[in-house]
Amino acid sequence: MRTHETYAPIRIALHWLIALLMVAVYVTINLHEAFPKGTEMRTTMKVAHYVLGFAVAGFTLLRLAAAMSLPGPVPLDGPKMQQLLANTVHLGLLALMLLMPILGYLALSFSGKPVSLFGLDLPLLTWADKGISRQIKEVHEAIGTLGYALIGLHALGALYHHHILKDSTLLRMWR
Ligand code: HEM
Ligand code: HEM
Repeated sequence: MRTHETYAPIRIALHWLIALLMVAVYVTINLHEAFPKGTEMRTTMKVAHYVLGFAVAGFTLLRLAAAMSLPGPVPLDGPKMQQLLANTVHLGLLALMLLMPILGYLALSFSGKPVSLFGLDLPLLTWADKGISRQIKEVHEAIGTLGYALIGLHALGALYHHHILKDSTLLRMWR
């Protein structure tokens, strides 16, 4: 029986840390376009995108372990459809946090171009095939675009609970 009224502090910390990392993942990849091809800043932004993306995946694994050992609070009363929508969006976000780094890494591997992270070459996992790399990149980009909608819907949902329904949904993920 889950009776506690808030998320465990480690789950709250991981939620906001990953939310910040996700913002940085999106900012870096959008910012890289602002720098001309071949410039050092463009490469730095891309490498930052890869490193931050890997960090998201790593912390998400920790977060899943935390969620399994420290269950969240009992859902607040509300329409069943609302809870289903919230849970579906959470699942979508989890998929985004785990699937995107895998797709990104596969796209880089198939591109066959060595990528250096802080002077260390990222091991390429596959044979080189530019066609497959391009296709995976397209899927990565499409899901990335969907990610904006998912995150937007999720954040709007939280604000709706806080400002319109005036319940404790946001606060119990805050303290
Ligand atoms: C949560 C994790 C991630 C998210 C949400 C994400 C999201 C995105 C987005 C939105 C784009 C730009 C798409 C566009 O131009 O419209 C992109 C591009 C890309 N991402 Fe990620 N990404 C993640 C992790 C990774 C990781 C870990 C890698 C590689 C190790 C990676 C490799 C790439 C590559 C190669 C591109 C294409 C860049 C180019 O234009 O050359 N991504 N990603
Ligand atoms: C301004 C941004 C955000 C706000 C206001 C926010 C707010 C919240 C709130 C209030 C909850 C608790 C919902 C409940 O108890 O039913 C929650 C849970 C959750 N949030 Fe966010 N969130 C934000 C950003 C993000 C981002 C960027 C991600 C991931 C990409 C994310 C992923 C999740 C997940 C997976 C849960 C389910 C509980 C858990 O696994 O810890 N959130 N969020």
